[in-house]
Order: sequence, then structure tokens, then C-alpha cells
Amino acid sequence: MTQKTERLKAALGDQRVIPVIRIERLTDAGPLARALAAGGLRAIEITLRTPDALDAIRVAAAEAPDAVVGAGTILGARQFEQAARAGARFIVSPGTTTELIDTARSSDVPLLPGAITPSEIMALREEGYSMLKFFPAEQAGGMSFLKALSSPIADVSFCPTGGVSAANARAYLDLPNVFCVGGSWVAPDAMIAAGDWTGIEDLARKAATIGQVGPTFA
Ligand code: 3PG
Repeated sequence: MTQKTERLKAALGDQRVIPVIRIERLTDAGPLARALAAGGLRAIEITLRTPDALDAIRVAAAEAPDAVVGAGTILGARQFEQAARAGARFIVSPGTTTELIDTARSSDVPLLPGAITPSEIMALREEGYSMLKFFPAEQAGGMSFLKALSSPIADVSFCPTGGVSAANARAYLDLPNVFCVGGSWVAPDAMIAAGDWTGIEDLARKAATIGQVGPTFA
């Protein structure tokens, strides 16, 4: 296992559900990260899909010391560097480019890069990546696609995101080549807008329970 993989594993801990978050209002970053951490989801992915996302990473890291704040929707080298400077402890990208891989190579911050096809997965495997994001999971073939990859490419495991929910997360997690899942269902836009931190903490607690080893339930 590479040093970077070790670092990614350390950042995610044994957490098997990663909240994928959009922050529209900077003042929501701290309370949201605290609510998710209180519910048992310490590692969170703040996506660069809103203008204040980089500041949101800074604020969440400062105001929620229990949270492990990562950056998501990183599309290129510049965003990688900006997110790392903002204090992101891990970086997630929906796909992979040569530029992104080059940047990740010279950074201490671990990357969870996206791949879907066997060729993309093999290329990242050659670079030393054994943990990949699989996005958009449901649209790209979902569980049956992942299951089909598990035998020929047995030493790579995935974090599916995109269409993963409380209803199917457990089934994804039961696949032998899935180490965690990600999704926005634990921090819905409407609940963030309403400042419903208790509700989000409750959703996080339920998601953390889904992530625990045990029988499948919806
Ligand atoms: C991601 O970036 O991982 C996805 O957009 C999350 O997808 P979801 O909103 O369907 O959970």
C-alpha cells in the first residue's frame, strides 16, 4: 500500500458513509460540519460547486475540530492546490486527468480520483491508486457493474457516489470491492437552508449506523 493510500485511509478512518456537501452560505459550514461529526460522520466532502466552497473548507475545519474536512468536485490542478491551501485533508475528483495526477504526486494531500471504465481503473492502478471513486454510480451501472469489476480487478476498491441513498447504501457496502459510499442524502440542501442541524445530525447518525457491519436494512 502506498503512503498516499495510507494517508487517505487515515483521513477517512473506518467511516463508510461520506457526506457530499454543497455550502451556499458560509455561515452554515461550521454548524453543518459539527452536526455531521456529532452524528458520527467526521469525514466530510465539501464540493467546489459553490462560490464560497474554499472558504467553507477553511471555516468548517476551524469551527468543527472533530471534523475531517475534504474537498470534492476537484476538476484540475489549480483547484487541487487551492483546496489543499484551504486545509482540505483529502481531495476527491469525479474523474481523472493527467494534470490532476501530476499535481497529486507532488502533494501531501491524498487524492481519491474518479474512474469508471476498466481502462481508467487500470491506468490509476498503474499510478499506485487502489482506492477510487466510482461516479456517477447508479447511472454508470451501479452494483452489477461494480460486482463485475471485482473479479478481474480484485485489488482495487471503490467509493461509489451518485444516486446512493439510505435505501441502497447498505447493499453497496456489502460488495467486496466497496470500501465506502458517498452521497448528499445526509445533508440535503433544504435542511441546510433551514438550518436544521438536529435533523442533519439525526440523518448522519442513521447513515453511520448503515455503515456499521451488520445485517442489510434500508
Ligand atoms: C458526488 O459528487 O459525489 C455526487 O454528486 C453525489 O451524488 P448524490 O447527490 O446523488 O448523492
